[in-house]
Amino acid sequence: MDALLRIEELEKYYGTKTMVTKALDQISFTVNEGEFLGIMGASGSGKTTLLNCISTIDTATAGHIYLRDRDITELKEDALAEFRQKNLGFVFQDFNLLDTLTIEENIALAPVIQGTPASKIAGEVAQVAQELGISDILSKFPYEVSGGQRQRCACARALIARPSLILADEPTGALDSKSASMLLECFTQMNRSMHATVMMVTHDIFSASYCSRILFLRDGRIFNELVKGDKNRRIFFNEIMDVVTLLGGDVSDAL
Ligand SMILES: Nc1ncnc2c1ncn2[C@@H]1O[C@H](COP(=O)(O)OP(=O)(O)O)[C@@H](O)[C@H]1O
Ligand SMILES: [Mg+2]
Repeated sequence: MDALLRIEELEKYYGTKTMVTKALDQISFTVNEGEFLGIMGASGSGKTTLLNCISTIDTATAGHIYLRDRDITELKEDALAEFRQKNLGFVFQDFNLLDTLTIEENIALAPVIQGTPASKIAGEVAQVAQELGISDILSKFPYEVSGGQRQRCACARALIARPSLILADEPTGALDSKSASMLLECFTQMNRSMHATVMMVTHDIFSASYCSRILFLRDGRIFNELVKGDKNRRIFFNEIMDVVTLLGGDVSDAL
């Protein structure tokens, strides 16, 4: 398998010389094309910082992040926006849908802002909507559709530009278990059928059990790693639970 993302000795410090927080402490790992990678760890372990460095929202203190063979820690300000538009898709915790736009307009928002020709956008929206099973609600407004359909709209918006990598920080954090399951099924579909590489931060064992591999962070370092392989989700769930218990994390979140 080809490496899509390569993180080398990534460090992120916050604070001053005398009062330093090592949010990321020499982290190295690789993400292959087509993986559904989970990042777990207690609150404050560095999960969001890691995602923000990869998404170029935050800058690393030291180390390198290569997407394909391009070092994104070297990108200058004016290249960053273009890099994000072309390569990354985001699914936000509250889905960030605009109430005054239709589902179609929400999905098309980024390409419209980027100046993609309308005829091209229409085809892309139709295609991604069909893949995610929301073709029949495109002319509706977010408040006229179900929670599951809003999630699919958020996923469609992340996928429209066919990014190399989809990033999501605690996407199921504010959802009840039925809605969380629907979103995770959607992520699984994006990953398996639409070949999107997904990186999802979660502190929830149930959500993590959908991933193909999980990295566990503790104090800004990689503490452990689990690979799902051919195991079913129930068995993987129990394995994750064992590591979370070892980490001293909040297991009750998942129960
Ligand atoms: N902007 C910031 N300024 C100072 N410290 C920060 C900032 N963002 C995060 N931190 C610190 O870095 C560490 C990792 O935070 P974070 O990545 O948000 O953890 P997580 O997402 O796993 O809860 C924590 O100790 C946190 O307090
Ligand atoms: Mg966080």
